[in-house]
Amino acid sequence: MSLGLASCALIVGDYRLAPLQRDDAAGLFELFGDPLVAEYMDIAPLTTLAQAHEIIDWGTELAAGDGGVRWTIRRPGDPALIGTVGFNNLVFDRARRGEVAYDLRRADWGRGVMSQILPHVLAFGFHELSLRRIEAMVTLGNARSCALLERHGFSLEGTLRDHAHWKGRYWDQLVYGRLSD
Ligand SMILES: CC(C)(COP(=O)(O)OP(=O)(O)OC[C@H]1O[C@@H](n2cnc3c(N)ncnc32)[C@H](O)[C@@H]1OP(=O)(O)O)[C@@H](O)C(=O)NCCC(=O)NCCS
Repeated sequence: MSLGLASCALIVGDYRLAPLQRDDAAGLFELFGDPLVAEYMDIAPLTTLAQAHEIIDWGTELAAGDGGVRWTIRRPGDPALIGTVGFNNLVFDRARRGEVAYDLRRADWGRGVMSQILPHVLAFGFHELSLRRIEAMVTLGNARSCALLERHGFSLEGTLRDHAHWKGRYWDQLVYGRLSD
């Protein structure tokens, strides 16, 4: 039976979360076109709208197959896309875990936006999806992401050396984890 992630919208605090959809392309292009937003991500800054559509197709397939969900983040009454958040790699076979991922446009960094949203997303994972473990993979050097996770009860579990390869080089990744209470 499907988890219904493809149609699962949430109101969390001052924000509304909705699964990525076709008409998010322009907002996504602006968000991921920023080199500072993409710096530690597995993508180069977007240069074409087609690349935004590819990400939307990825998110749509992910949710349809119960592999995860990527929500857009907006303020109620404001069409501007300010970021995305969600789960990649949901595993229910011989485990109950998911990987959380998130990003914000630069104008909203340093304002506590993700700190307000993340607890609701974690609660969704632990309670609605009955996850035992939520993990995050952080590229070495992404201090803002580490600080966010540490503020929200994640433990640094180790460093995976040269764990990823994108943008023409290998990247060490930090593994953070948090278990259900
Ligand atoms: C990772 C990312 C979402 C973190 O954003 P952030 O704004 O630093 O995170 P928070 O929402 O927790 O906000 C904390 C900041 O807001 C400030 N703040 C203001 N009001 C606050 C409040 N009410 N509550 C908490 N923090 C508040 C904090 O002091 C802190 O600022 P500082 O780091 O300058 O001291 C952001 O840096 C980002 O989008 N990066 C690019 C994408 C990316 O790398 N994603 C992660 C991949 S693993």
